[in-house]
Amino acid sequence: MTSEEPGDSSVVRRDRFSGGPARGFLSSLAADERIFAADLAVDRAHVVMLAERGIVEDEVAGEILAALDDVEAAGHAALPGGEDIHEAVESAVIERVGTEGGKMHTARSRNDEVAACIRYRLREDVLDAAEATLALREALIGAAEEHVGTVMPGYTHLQPAQPTTVAHYLLSYEAAVRRDTARLLDAYGRINQSPLGAAAFAGTPFDVNRERTAELLGFDGVLGNSMDASSARDFLAETLSALATHAVTLSGLAEDLVLFANRGHVELSDDYSSTSSIMPQKKNPDTLELVRACAGDAVGDLAGLLTTLKGLPRAYNRDLQRAHRHAFDAADLVAEATEVAAGAVATATWNEEALAEAAGEGFSTATGVADLLAMAGMPFRTAHEIVAEAAPDVDLGDDPASAVATLDAAAERVVGEPVSAFVTRDAVESALDPGESVESRDSAGGPAAPAVADQLDDAETTADADAAALAARRDAIVEADDRLTAEVQRYV
Ligand code: ARG
Repeated sequence: MTSEEPGDSSVVRRDRFSGGPARGFLSSLAADERIFAADLAVDRAHVVMLAERGIVEDEVAGEILAALDDVEAAGHAALPGGEDIHEAVESAVIERVGTEGGKMHTARSRNDEVAACIRYRLREDVLDAAEATLALREALIGAAEEHVGTVMPGYTHLQPAQPTTVAHYLLSYEAAVRRDTARLLDAYGRINQSPLGAAAFAGTPFDVNRERTAELLGFDGVLGNSMDASSARDFLAETLSALATHAVTLSGLAEDLVLFANRGHVELSDDYSSTSSIMPQKKNPDTLELVRACAGDAVGDLAGLLTTLKGLPRAYNRDLQRAHRHAFDAADLVAEATEVAAGAVATATWNEEALAEAAGEGFSTATGVADLLAMAGMPFRTAHEIVAEAAPDVDLGDDPASAVATLDAAAERVVGEPVSAFVTRDAVESALDPGESVESRDSAGGPAAPAVADQLDDAETTADADAAALAARRDAIVEADDRLTAEVQRYV
């Protein structure tokens, strides 16, 4: 949304500055629909606090709070016009209550109000995004459990590099998504702080209780400096940065799956594929291509946000009205892309046969042979030279004996002796085998089954802990909401 026509009926502006050709340009009312519920909650908490402090009479507070219920029931679309949601809601309250309704805006400004609304709304969006990352982690863990023994080629520079397993591969993404979850939950702690009571930026002469409004809204604390409270938007930047980082993680996973599907290594479910409108034989990985593309949106939003914030002087500038949309847009898109990726992973079928066949392509066990020679005491550099000398002539599809003969010949050329002078023939043959090669790489974090079992344990334990942390935050929000509702009931 860029602009719309706010009505002329602003009680707040009384015709001053309410017209002019830029009226629509100035207004955020349509985009503010996203913070409609947040604005009502912030108004309620503020009015309850004003009444508790004796700043507004209980009876007036009751009338304002009743009017807010009515405004909520009527919905965003029924709001009178205004420059933004804050003005429109205040006008709607004054329409219902009369001029006493104007007491609602005592001891605050739209500056601390909008900052509170954004934080109040964004925290839920961040929890939704974090929950989507948990769903993706579950899908990755579930598929990994099924494929601890499924050998596949691992790639560097898009070339077969070393054999690994599907479980090890999937858990590599689980580890990255786990950090994405952590970054989102970490950002949550800094989002969930109350700016209320900062007013425009310089505080207020009224005896407000900032801790009380924070508590009623479920904020974890109060921002200490009132100028910072009304102007800070770095919480948007770090949230969006976490979202964009996660979108980049998703784009890598999507790209891999597109490539693997193309090679016949994985079969994507029809639910996550598309077809061509002209070529009847096609099954295209469109859904994952769109997941891959979401990084463009999220990174673009991050660039848009940071560019908007860059160089803004203290304290409030209207530029800020265009800042938070970037975070909201990215939160929606990235959460959806994450859920789609989770579904695609959970429903994909890994083609064990094709993967086993591809696992040895490009002499992928070359490093294992060099490791074997080095373990027998040969300097790794010499071993590397011997295997590199043999590499162009080794085809793991051939009889293992012919590969051993090729290695022997190469060793003769490099060190004047065959490899069988250093290691047994059996040991070489097993180092050449992709499955045995995987089993030999049992260092912590490696692809061998026992090492992957440890990684699976760790992934599950951390997912449970993160799910509990997320649920605790959701509970705290619900509790605060109930508390606020109960306090409001005392007045209406
Ligand atoms: N709609 C405005 C925003 O989103 C509210 C704050 C207006 N404050 C002001 N001083 N003009 O930032």
